[in-house]
Amino acid sequence: MNSEQKPRTFANETKDGPKAPSLVCPSMRLRHHKMLRALLLFAFAFVCVIFAGHVEPVLGNTDGVTSIFRPLSQPAQEIKETSLLVLAICGSIFMVVAGLIVYAIVRFRHRAGDELSEPPQVYGSNQIELAWTVLPILIVFVLILVTSRTIADIQNRKPPPTAVQATVIGHQWWWEIRYPELGIVSANELHVPASDGSESRPTFLKLQSADVAHSFWVPLLAGKTDLIPNRENLMWIEPTNPGTYLGNCAEYCGTQHARMLIRVVVHPPDEFARWVNEQQRPAATETSAPEGRKVFFANSCVNCHTIRGTSAQGKFGPDLTHLMSRETLASGAALNSADSLRLWVRDPQKIKVGCLMPNMQLTDEEVDEVVAYLQTLK
Ligand code: CUA
Repeated sequence: MNSEQKPRTFANETKDGPKAPSLVCPSMRLRHHKMLRALLLFAFAFVCVIFAGHVEPVLGNTDGVTSIFRPLSQPAQEIKETSLLVLAICGSIFMVVAGLIVYAIVRFRHRAGDELSEPPQVYGSNQIELAWTVLPILIVFVLILVTSRTIADIQNRKPPPTAVQATVIGHQWWWEIRYPELGIVSANELHVPASDGSESRPTFLKLQSADVAHSFWVPLLAGKTDLIPNRENLMWIEPTNPGTYLGNCAEYCGTQHARMLIRVVVHPPDEFARWVNEQQRPAATETSAPEGRKVFFANSCVNCHTIRGTSAQGKFGPDLTHLMSRETLASGAALNSADSLRLWVRDPQKIKVGCLMPNMQLTDEEVDEVVAYLQTLK
């Protein structure tokens, strides 16, 4: 600075410090009240919107609703608590910023005669600069601490000896589900035991992909975790309420991404033990459908599908050993009924366009026979 320059004083400053502008008149005070009321209304509406998502699932019929606001398992509950806190903090910041902007727009809007006078000129204020630097740093710090505590809690969970271990492998467009310790291979429906007060039985999942990236997401149970080729991701769930929980692949993986649904069936412990027993049995050797069996084994069905205990050992498509124990076909694209099974065997493309199972060009008679055989795979 040139030594001859005088220190600058600003229009609204005296030597003793900033001078408060005397801008308030009765009509303005009335306007302030009106604006304050509008702001409060806006805040109330905002809070209502946030809580609407929270309360609605509690009130309404919740069957099949996969709301992130109604978690029924760890870690989804912990994730929800953290995200509501983050939402509250960010919502408050939004309210303050938006409120101030609206206030400034209305309060300092252009008025007739404004051209004749200059508004107060304010340059720099250490207090304000300090406040809007330190406050955001503190807020970000709180957000970091809260989030990393949740992430650490979830990632550091060690499987107890009672835990069930399963491997989920994403395929275009279905889920392969393996229980290596139990010797079970299934598809699209993950069966797990429920934890109760007396015993904790979480299920630990190893997530892999056979082709492209997928993402395992059952909103009521846990957050999303990707299934990435040549890599193994881990996650766990610990539901306490028996029932069926719906989920979907949450990472775009091609034409039928939207029809890559997952069901998690949570059983009471004794029922889970029964399910395990049934799945461990070899495939039914019933001979009620010998023609269908012949057609199945004479075609290239066996190159893609496994039926345990037979020569069908294909690994490309879902394991069919206990096909009829599953509620759905084609990863949730159709219910597992005789009709949709027939439609599926005749031409899978009719149910799931682009799916990797080809039309086998079977005759009507052959289709009926194969379906009869598949229905013995209980
Ligand atoms: Cu698998 Cu999207």
